[in-house]
Amino acid sequence: MVGPTSGRLASGRLGSGRLVEISEVIAAIKQVFARHGKLSGRRIVVTAGGTREPIDPVRYVGNHSSGKMGYAIAEAARDMGAQVTLISAPSALLSPAGVEVIQVQTAKQMYEAVVNAVKGAEVLIMAAAVADYSPVNVAENKIKKDSDKLTLHLVRTVDILGAVAAQGLIKVGFAAESENVEENARKKLREKQVDIIVANDITANDSGFNVDTNEVLLIDRDGRTAKLPLMQKSELAVRILDKVAELLNNR
Ligand code: CTP
Repeated sequence: MVGPTSGRLASGRLGSGRLVEISEVIAAIKQVFARHGKLSGRRIVVTAGGTREPIDPVRYVGNHSSGKMGYAIAEAARDMGAQVTLISAPSALLSPAGVEVIQVQTAKQMYEAVVNAVKGAEVLIMAAAVADYSPVNVAENKIKKDSDKLTLHLVRTVDILGAVAAQGLIKVGFAAESENVEENARKKLREKQVDIIVANDITANDSGFNVDTNEVLLIDRDGRTAKLPLMQKSELAVRILDKVAELLNNR
């Protein structure tokens, strides 16, 4: 049974009796078919979007992440039967049905949400573009343009992927690179102690930020590298999760 939901009815009265959104009906059907999916019974935490670090009440330090990759992973994991928590920095995308969504703004809030959500989870997939630096002080009032130059003092944020570790937690990271893609991605794999790194060249037009497609290298902790062709982010999400399912089944 899906619904009914409440709201304004044909009779003009308010109450329970409306058809639920079609997207929710579809999500519910997918969840039924996912019961025997590769990830059924697994708890997966996914992060998405670009964090915003406030400068004053109206401005922030941000980045171009749209959230598309992380949302695609959350939806694909749900469709493979997983219980998914999506920790999302601001994104224009709609919250996927059948997924627990936690909205955050800053790197610090995302860190706290991740630490909390990974308790009891088996997998953490960090697709979010987390700010590496945030303003040391947040101005209480709007900063006025009363000088020609303005210097912002920034301080390092916590490296969430590197800092979060839990017994048996499988960690998947992304490496957004503009040069030496494979070498830099391997370095991140080692330093952040992740199991799989998804590396992309953000200088390519059809890859990375704000587009529907991505062309990546998948590198696992044993050094195996797979160069995947350009594909939809929804398809790439399934490829990443197939690899996660393999790791989960082999331990
Ligand atoms: N990440 C994180 N916490 C941060 C920064 C990044 O968890 N404070 C995660 C990202 O979600 C991603 C991975 O680390 O999965 C790599 O992010 P990326 O921006 O490519 O690299 P950085 O670690 O920020 O390193 P650099 O900017 O020096 O390339």
